[in-house]
Amino acid sequence: MTKILIIDDEPGIRRTLASILEDENYRVLTAEDALVGIAILEKEQINLIFLDVLLPNLGGLEALERIQKEWPGIEVVVISGHANVDMAVRAVKLGAFDFLEKPLSLDKVLTVCRNALTMQKLKEENRGLKKNTLREDEIIGKSPAIENVRELIRQAAASEARILITGENGTGKELAARAIHRLSGRAAKPFVEVNCAAIPDTLIESELFGHEKGAFTDAVSRRRGRFEMASGGTLFLDEIGDMSLAAQSKVLRVIQEGKVERVGGEKTLDVDARIVAATNKDLEQECGRGKFRQDLFFRLNVIPIRLPALRERAEDIPLLLLHFLKDIGAGHIALDNSAVEFLMSQPWPGNIRELKNLAERIMVMYRGDRAGAGDLQNLIQKNLGGESSGENSKINENFLPPGYPAMKNQEFGDILNLRYTEAKNSFEKRYLEFQLARNGGIISRTAEAIGIYPSNLHAKLRKYKKD
Ligand SMILES: Nc1ncnc2c1ncn2[C@@H]1O[C@H](COP(=O)(O)OP(=O)(O)OP(=O)(O)O)[C@@H](O)[C@H]1O
Ligand SMILES: [Mg+2]
Repeated sequence: MTKILIIDDEPGIRRTLASILEDENYRVLTAEDALVGIAILEKEQINLIFLDVLLPNLGGLEALERIQKEWPGIEVVVISGHANVDMAVRAVKLGAFDFLEKPLSLDKVLTVCRNALTMQKLKEENRGLKKNTLREDEIIGKSPAIENVRELIRQAAASEARILITGENGTGKELAARAIHRLSGRAAKPFVEVNCAAIPDTLIESELFGHEKGAFTDAVSRRRGRFEMASGGTLFLDEIGDMSLAAQSKVLRVIQEGKVERVGGEKTLDVDARIVAATNKDLEQECGRGKFRQDLFFRLNVIPIRLPALRERAEDIPLLLLHFLKDIGAGHIALDNSAVEFLMSQPWPGNIRELKNLAERIMVMYRGDRAGAGDLQNLIQKNLGGESSGENSKINENFLPPGYPAMKNQEFGDILNLRYTEAKNSFEKRYLEFQLARNGGIISRTAEAIGIYPSNLHAKLRKYKKD
């Protein structure tokens, strides 16, 4: 059954909205502020939230950010008064599906509600599809080195042991971690990722273990930590080699005791999260240099999985490139023998990520259907707006997808003469049109490629359609 949560401090709004929605046979829950709302989210499976932007305690925008982070599968529709429409617009920019202005109109509520739920279902289906086809998570390669990794992953997944994944940049560490989770008995529970390098030292404890309201100045509400969120599932500690020594000892303690305590909290919570860690550093060496705790290293390194660099499995390179080309809709492009040899002879310091970039470049800039070594070399050397390529090359200088009108320098000059807001909008519009064309007009794929929420992209495109 579809469940909708209304978070608004005005009882009148809660009542009206609830009765409209209940008449449509939705199950409706209500909360008078965001903290109560979040408490409900922790217990119930909600599909859609109507969220007031002006709220006591935790403000609407802050609540929105939190909801998106912890419950990314839920759509949020923001409600605002006439006086704070700007906040609602900001919320949509942050990824809310849409906003409603008070006083609420019945028609508008119902349309927005239906659309938001359609979007939510689509996203859910999309995730389901991804899970089923495993396309995103498929580990491609036929070399003995990668076969070996696949076998190790299968064995390791079946156990509950902690795993340490090592390998150079872009060798597929994260992909391997996700595969382990998927193949494990914990697949139905969450896979929670922490990028240890990206979290400042002062926040790591609250990020990992959570905090109680008032534990420190910014702790306006209780918050679950990553260990807690991963309960029953897998906690992926990415870039663990970049974690500070102080944080390392805290993680060690949690591993030893099997319990966490929220910052500022009294009670201890049992944690049941399987830890998979990854790093591109040589942790043994880091231990020797006093940068990594040896006892933690031993705890994490129960099953080591080392991902081979691309150059150690050269035979997989052409295979991977063709796979990526197909994946982005350029499956018609073939490689000739010189291209295959060229690919296998390159060092690929950025490994698979670099190869994936090359596939994108080929798709966008290459106009032929059978690429040779020369074409690839040109594409690799050429940076955007860089040197022009050889005379016989089939590379499209404007690097625009087919059917997209070339953006001339002249037009960019025009942008420079506009006022800031207009320039920004004009750039954004062209940028989005370009990215959309490049991703075959598929909104979800475009949104993922450029790192924004699909609902956000939808909203932007709608806006530009009107102009
Ligand atoms: N064997 C593979 N088959 C198909 N795609 C792969 C494979 N290995 C990696 N990829 C893809 O290459 C990209 C980089 O992989 P991933 O992010 O897992 O690498 P990483 O080792 O975590 O990189 P970094 O060190 O930069 O964090 C991803 O888009 C991933 O899907
Ligand atoms: Mg990674």
